[in-house]
Amino acid sequence: MKIALIVGARPQFIKLAPLYFAIRQEGLTPIIIHTGQHYSPAMNELFFHQLGLPDPDHNLNIQGGSHSQMVGRMLKTLEPALTTTAPDWVVVFGDTNSTLAGALAAKQAGLRLAHVEAGLRAGRTDMPEELNRVVADRVSDLLFCPTLKAAMHLKQEGLEGKARIVGDIMLDAFRIFSAQKSAPVFPLPERFILATVHREENTLREKLEGIVEGLNRLHQQECPVVLPAHPRIRRAISRFGLKPIFALEEPVGYLQMLFLLNRCQMVATDSGGLQKEAFFAEKPCIVLRPETEWEELVEAAAALIVGSSAERIFSSYHAAKDRKVPSIPLFGNGYAAEKIIHFLRENTPE
Ligand code: UD1
Ligand code: UDP
Repeated sequence: MKIALIVGARPQFIKLAPLYFAIRQEGLTPIIIHTGQHYSPAMNELFFHQLGLPDPDHNLNIQGGSHSQMVGRMLKTLEPALTTTAPDWVVVFGDTNSTLAGALAAKQAGLRLAHVEAGLRAGRTDMPEELNRVVADRVSDLLFCPTLKAAMHLKQEGLEGKARIVGDIMLDAFRIFSAQKSAPVFPLPERFILATVHREENTLREKLEGIVEGLNRLHQQECPVVLPAHPRIRRAISRFGLKPIFALEEPVGYLQMLFLLNRCQMVATDSGGLQKEAFFAEKPCIVLRPETEWEELVEAAAALIVGSSAERIFSSYHAAKDRKVPSIPLFGNGYAAEKIIHFLRENTPE
């Protein structure tokens, strides 16, 4: 059985790794198709290298552009890649533009499609990720849900027949790679808040100003802040002339991220993946967005929604820092990849 795995952005390389290795382990054939959405070495090659992934079988080299330009170029180049590969299944991950293009291209080519991390909803229509995940769910043949709540969302949309709860594949990655965690090259303070920011809405001047000011105040008055910066945030900070006084570092590899998660006091992020990893590492998390698609983390009192106001970011520190993150299996048992393969097999005609 041949399984085409379409990826393009940093979190997708991390989600890809456990599934790729499990497919190989089962004696099946994985084909990696990389759209090229993320292309800077620190956002791309670093992950393939650290996670022990081979070079992609196809690299479409889409680099930057508006959402529509990106998706359009991906569709055009995915068609021949999928046609020559002729897989039994196409798998897409998460909610990026690569997810949307991969899902559309697979169905337009008449192929069977599965969506990993299906059923998430932030309840907003003005967010590119929400559009991407809703469309991917709508057109997929199998919907692999990380949580019970995700499956409930799909039920509300009449998609329960295609849904399978398998747990979160990021927990597989966390389980597999935690033993290899390694320190970043930059020096670390004894105690620190681990921060990341990259969402499109947080590159708006007013929001980014609030976040930088909030993190500056935390850094100065409460606890040092370490922020490995996505290239678009670094650019926006310089474009708006903002003056972070905390450590603004280059993006780090996944193994360094696991080290930072293990050592930090708390996480402050607008990342979907990092919110969950904070929970896996039993660290409290403040969410630099007005909402989250991982509501179960808020309900478990592991994450606190804070948004981008400097005042709220600063004042949330005391409410969040001593929270005891519960050790409960919200995201399955760390073996989602094996379950995904089981259901792909079960749903493939002889
Ligand atoms: C994308 C996803 C987001 C995901 C994130 C993971 C969409 C709509 N958004 O957001 O859901 O959380 O990836 O990190 O797909 N850039 C570089 N080098 C790179 C990648 C990006 O310089 O390797 C810069 C470019 O200026 C680019 C900008 O960052 O235009 C934004 O990149 P893009 O892929 O559009 O969005 P992300 O914020 O990375
Ligand atoms: N990550 C990383 N290095 C960084 C920042 C993030 O390895 O400098 C990892 C992080 O640990 C998580 C994933 O990238 O596994 C999350 O990706 P991102 O925040 O870019 O996207 P999102 O999860 O919000 O879609």
